[in-house]
Amino acid sequence: TVPTQLLTLNGKQFSIEADPNMPVLWVIRDIIGLTGTKYGCGSGLCGACTIHVDGKPMRGCLTSLKQVTNKQVTTIEGVEAQALKDNWAKHNVPQCGYCQAGQIMSAAALLATTPAPTEQQIDQAMSGNICRCGTYPRIKSAIKATAA
Ligand code: FES
Repeated sequence: TVPTQLLTLNGKQFSIEADPNMPVLWVIRDIIGLTGTKYGCGSGLCGACTIHVDGKPMRGCLTSLKQVTNKQVTTIEGVEAQALKDNWAKHNVPQCGYCQAGQIMSAAALLATTPAPTEQQIDQAMSGNICRCGTYPRIKSAIKATAA
């Protein structure tokens, strides 16, 4: 039998019947049906699947369901980062858009702990999020525009 596990996602509790070792990215996309979080490489290299676990940016593809039991999981659909999202739109950041939810999640986690990041802190926080279209300069502009 498949065990039932409790998952708190964007402030709501879900009772999930799945293998505890299932990547939480699959749970979020395929079981719960929230598709803002993207599957890129599936092996921790691209950042497209970035979610927050207790506010910390994590790879959804490498984080198992059992690792997030009793923790707060947040996705792009639930993250409170309206100013950042507004600046993302204002600076026309996305090109194809595929990596952008992950980019915003990493940026939001940075700004939550470091409201006025230095150039270096931005580079470091964003270094794990790959954009094949090369939107990096606009990503940085949107982050800087949001910074305190
Ligand atoms: Fe998780 Fe690429 S899909 S890091």
